[in-house]
Amino acid sequence: MHTNLTYVAVMLGMMVFQKAHAHTFLSNIAVGDTEEPVGKYIQKYLGYKLFPVNDVTTKNMRCRNAEGIDPKAATFPVKAGTEFSVVWHHYNNSITDNMVSPSHRGPCTIYMAQQKPNPDDNQWFKIYELGFDKTANLWCSDILRNAHGRLNFTLPMDIVDGNYLLRTELIALHKAAFFNGTQFYPNCVQLSISGSKNKFLDPPPHYVSFPGAYGPEDKGILYDVKQDKGQNYVIPGPEVYPPVTK
Ligand SMILES: *[C@@H]1O[C@H](CO)[C@@H](O)[C@H](O)[C@H]1NC(C)=O
Ligand SMILES: *[C@@H]1O[C@H](CO)[C@@H](O)[C@H](O)[C@H]1NC(C)=O
Ligand SMILES: *[C@@H]1O[C@H](CO)[C@@H](O)[C@H](O)[C@H]1NC(C)=O
Repeated sequence: MHTNLTYVAVMLGMMVFQKAHAHTFLSNIAVGDTEEPVGKYIQKYLGYKLFPVNDVTTKNMRCRNAEGIDPKAATFPVKAGTEFSVVWHHYNNSITDNMVSPSHRGPCTIYMAQQKPNPDDNQWFKIYELGFDKTANLWCSDILRNAHGRLNFTLPMDIVDGNYLLRTELIALHKAAFFNGTQFYPNCVQLSISGSKNKFLDPPPHYVSFPGAYGPEDKGILYDVKQDKGQNYVIPGPEVYPPVTK
């Protein structure tokens, strides 16, 4: 009895620890030195902002807010082809913030979709991905933690002008060997793109839907990170849409 109570106390302690010390959210967007905080152009989260999505079949896979709609979020005007940054944090927007627990290792991806009136119709294409860097022996999450949560990438030129959702995603693999154990941390930014080439490359990009893009048994989702250690990791979702053609 005593042992059981101790066990329960330890387990509860671990659960609280996990809630308090794991997880991450998209805190800022940045172009050059201009940073914009969450709540302005980044859509609000549903419920507790740090909780991951575990079920790839839910609409929460879009932006962690079910539909992918936030009537209060504004739209950030930006030129196609811009060097763009997104910044994840855990507690707050400070340089000392450890944006995600070192135990939460995995890839990161960035998608875009033209905003349709009905978010069920949004068609997503991937513009960036970083999985495991074998040379450096680092996951994207490690590289980002070392960069204070800041990821830099280029917005594509070969798109059409208009309003987009930019979907940022970190995937934590520490429990991914178990069905439904993979943790997804998607968040969306509202962008208004101008100055593009006003065309999509031919053949068109590999569009996917959320939910739909990922299956629970995809190679990069049901994955034993402790055993494989990144060596054969396959990032889930479609191929990256050619990012910039000059
Ligand atoms: C950020 O959050 C951490 C952890 O809660 C806290 O110790 C620190 O003082 C906060 N920093 C700022 C600048 O608010
Ligand atoms: C992104 O750019 C910032 C500012 O130049 C830099 O400090 C950071 O290391 C970069 N992030 C990555 C992941 O390289
Ligand atoms: C995985 O999640 C789905 C959707 O919530 C659920 O139907 C299924 O029972 C879960 N499977 C396991 C093994 O947890």
